[in-house]
Amino acid sequence: MELLNGTGLWSMAIFTVIFILLVDLMHRRHRWTSRYPPGPVPWPVLGNLLQVDLSNMPYSLYKLQHRYGDVFSLQKGWKPMVIVNRLKAVQEVLVTHGEDTADRPPVPIFKCLGVKPRSQGVILASYGPEWREQRRFSVSTLRTFGMGKKSLEEWVTKEAGHLCDAFTAQAGQSINPKAMLNKALCNVIASLIFARRFEYEDPYLIRMVKLVEESLTEVSGFIPEGTTLIINLSSVLKDETVWEKPHRFHPEHFLDAQGNFVKHEAFMPFSAGRRACLGEPLARMELFLFFTCLLQRFSFSVPVGQPRPSTHGFFAFPVAPLPYQLCAVVREQGL
Ligand code: HEM
Repeated sequence: MELLNGTGLWSMAIFTVIFILLVDLMHRRHRWTSRYPPGPVPWPVLGNLLQVDLSNMPYSLYKLQHRYGDVFSLQKGWKPMVIVNRLKAVQEVLVTHGEDTADRPPVPIFKCLGVKPRSQGVILASYGPEWREQRRFSVSTLRTFGMGKKSLEEWVTKEAGHLCDAFTAQAGQSINPKAMLNKALCNVIASLIFARRFEYEDPYLIRMVKLVEESLTEVSGFIPEGTTLIINLSSVLKDETVWEKPHRFHPEHFLDAQGNFVKHEAFMPFSAGRRACLGEPLARMELFLFFTCLLQRFSFSVPVGQPRPSTHGFFAFPVAPLPYQLCAVVREQGL
């Protein structure tokens, strides 16, 4: 009891602070000797946690990149991380040094659950024979089931029709289309795997969408745990040294002087190199068919009294739009 009174308490507090500062100093020495790229000075114990706005990570990283350069360091607690920004540096890391940067940090929950390397799936798996085998298997299975083929296009077109019907049912109202879009995407995967789709009210489909959403959030929570290298794809998609109007939707970015489509090397929403998205052909097909179908059938507007959708993303995997409302009105034929 005596120990917790007055001077005893003070001595204990001072001892604890000195102990923490010493441990912190040991970690800092490791950082100094390892010669990390520049970055903001980390706080003892917390690292740079208070210097980044977790609710708007892309903007925080954007400001840091302008201050410290395209490759800079941050510390999450005592864990050092290197953030890579803009086309040139990202290409160098993902493509030129692809072999050295294709690994993924161990996932603590996998260890706790005793998940074996062969059961880690593709996205989070370490770069090794198990990942290679799972990736090859996934690509060939997706192809067998129709990825990149006409048969899948029919499923996606059919689903786009159902999506349009769901929009029609709520035409003229202020809606958040997220749930409908997620159900349509889940149905495409269901078409691939089960060769059938589900009605949007079907409890099974609703459960599936919820599970996918939850698992994605979990993943984003675990990624930073062991991550030392963070590839900031947003900084490539909005690279001011590459795009004419980097912060605007500007279709001319992808058109030549004659109005023909041109590919742009900085357009890499599916990443690049060995760990690039393997579902890209399917995702592109879905985006094209869903968008064209919706835009042909409806005029979209911001409902009266609602703000314009924000261009800031919600920082998860993948980055998602912040909630927004829109109003879809059925187009008159020929307009
Ligand atoms: C618009 C939709 C999509 C976007 C923007 C997207 C984006 C990405 C990105 C940026 C990565 C790299 C992640 C990393 O570096 O760790 C990735 C990986 C991956 N994506 Fe996608 N993706 C999309 C749709 C899909 C679909 C439809 C599938 C499945 C059919 C899929 C399956 C995968 C897999 C399995 C990986 C891990 C690849 C590996 O680590 O080897 N994605 N995706």
